[in-house]
Formats: sequence, structure tokens, C-alpha cells
Amino acid sequence: MGLIYFPPQNNADIINIMELNKLIKNVFTEEQIGYLRDIAFNGETHLCQERGRNDVFIGPDIRQDIKDKVKSYFDEGYELYHVTYSEYSPDHGIPNLPEHRDPKYDHTSLTFDYQFEANVIWPMCAEGICHDMKDNDALIFDPQNMDHLRPPRDFKPGDYVRVFFFFLKKV
Ligand SMILES: [Fe+2]
Repeated sequence: MGLIYFPPQNNADIINIMELNKLIKNVFTEEQIGYLRDIAFNGETHLCQERGRNDVFIGPDIRQDIKDKVKSYFDEGYELYHVTYSEYSPDHGIPNLPEHRDPKYDHTSLTFDYQFEANVIWPMCAEGICHDMKDNDALIFDPQNMDHLRPPRDFKPGDYVRVFFFFLKKV
């Protein structure tokens, strides 16, 4: 068998290095955050009192540059199929997220958990590693195969944590 020559890789070719459970900083631009704010604050809300949060089910239709940005953190072949905006606040119950894994669907689903804005720190933990998320940070995790939670926290009136969940699956 002859030798196969691989030319040296240019750094520009190395893209899409998907890293699970590692904090991603500075995801969206100010303009994109403004667009997300419009969607979040003008959508129809669904109370999830059990978790102390209000949800807006956005679905798969979101601006292309937002999709492209999220997908840039994933391996080739992952597609965005759903987006939800959620606000955790004592206005909606007692915010809580005990340790769990998500139910298994017919496909593997990864979550791009994006902190939109919060006025308290409420770490997000997956597989025993906790991240103090700041605004415009995100975390990718495998919710069906990784235990995940937010530690119990005493929310005061006016405290909130606002997030977007981007759900992706391999197609
Ligand atoms: Fe979950």
C-alpha cells in the first residue's frame, strides 16, 4: 500500500469542534440579543409552575443568523429543531431544577443552553460540573445521557434567570 499524504491543515479549516459541558462565552452580538429580546417578550407564555418558570415555545423558526451561530458550535450534521425561551422567577412559582435526565426520544437531542439575562447567579450543572453562567454564555450538554440540575437557591422577589434552550439533533 502506498503512502497517503495529508497536507498540513490550515487553522482556518479547523471548525466545528463541538465541546460538551464547557462554557461558551460571548455567543450573540448586541443586535442579535435585541432581536431575541423581541421574541422573548412578545411571545405567548405558558406557565410551568412546577419549575417556577414561564415558557415561550418559539419552534424552529428563528432568524437564519441565529441558527447559523448556534450551529457553528456543533459538529457537522446537527440541525436546530426547536427553541424555547424560559424565565425562572418567583413570580411563576419556586424556581427549581432537581437532578434529572430528559426522557429518551427517538433521536439524540443536544441542548444549547443559553443564558439570555439574569440578575442572580444560578449555576448550571451537568455530570457533576457546575458553571456560573453569565449573560451571553452558553453550555452544550446531552440531556438524555448526562445528569443535569441547578442547585437549590432561595429566590427573592425580583430575582430572575432568563434563558433560551436551543434543541439540536443529528439529521
Ligand atoms: Fe432537562
